[in-house]
Amino acid sequence: MSEDRKVLIKADQLTKVFGYGAGKTTAVNHVDFAFHEGEIISIVGESGSGKTTLAKMIMGLLKESSGSIEYKGAPRKLGSQRQRREYWKDIQAIFQDPFSSFNIFHKIDKLLLDCIKLQGLKLSKEEQFRKMKEACSFVNLKFEELSNKYPFELSGGQMQRLMIARIFMMHPKVLIADEPTSMVDACSRSTILDMLLKLRDENNMTIIFITHDVGLAYYVSDTIYIMEKGHIVESGSAERVILTPRHRYTQQLISDVPKIHEAWELA
Ligand SMILES: Nc1ncnc2c1ncn2[C@@H]1O[C@H](COP(=O)(O)OP(=O)(O)OP(=O)(O)O)[C@@H](O)[C@H]1O
Ligand SMILES: [Mg+2]
Repeated sequence: MSEDRKVLIKADQLTKVFGYGAGKTTAVNHVDFAFHEGEIISIVGESGSGKTTLAKMIMGLLKESSGSIEYKGAPRKLGSQRQRREYWKDIQAIFQDPFSSFNIFHKIDKLLLDCIKLQGLKLSKEEQFRKMKEACSFVNLKFEELSNKYPFELSGGQMQRLMIARIFMMHPKVLIADEPTSMVDACSRSTILDMLLKLRDENNMTIIFITHDVGLAYYVSDTIYIMEKGHIVESGSAERVILTPRHRYTQQLISDVPKIHEAWELA
């Protein structure tokens, strides 16, 4: 990644503690990061390491216990509804379970139409239809076949692609993709990853890709952050982190992936 890209979102000692006393969990522990415009970042760690909690704090869906986030060079403010609406226009997420992200009582055409409304666009019926069709074809779905269906009538993989279609329509500045390929087979997985890369290339989107699969992270990202028990234990360019891992935990994650392990041994 070129060095002259601007920092878009930055965290300083970001911390999230759940519960009290003996039941206390520090899910995210004094995390620092700086994500740039058009950068693809992977956050990699085992189950329970705090990845989704961190994603929700970046989204502004969970309030930090301490620490802070800067957005576009200024402290992020989400106090008023207007501030939140502005921020969520710029930052969108795809979460692990696509079904939890939608109103299941709305048909697919309404879910797509809502994206047009959220942007405040005033379009004719024909233009709306054309936009929805274009977004579906971007993710290899047929709008005509889906428009009248409810989310539960779609497969997990179709729903994940539909989420990417919504991102395509809203073109946010930042996309947080939390295990977006968890419900699809290997072939659809690479298609989804390629769609995400295309979104970045066409819109200069910053993509924060969350996964426990270090191989996927190597494939898609410019920069990798390794997370263990709430801490970022290592970060750097994907090549540097994967080919010359410094932290014991990163080395262990990589040794669990035979192919990367070979590349690592050869390096
Ligand atoms: N709302 C909550 N209340 C209490 N504890 C929570 C809550 N959400 C997460 N945790 C705890 O915080 C820790 C981190 O959870 P998180 O969901 O962020 O992990 P993760 O890295 O996303 O895991 P996975 O790969 O399984 O999705 C876990 O110990 C979890 O039990
Ligand atoms: Mg998670």
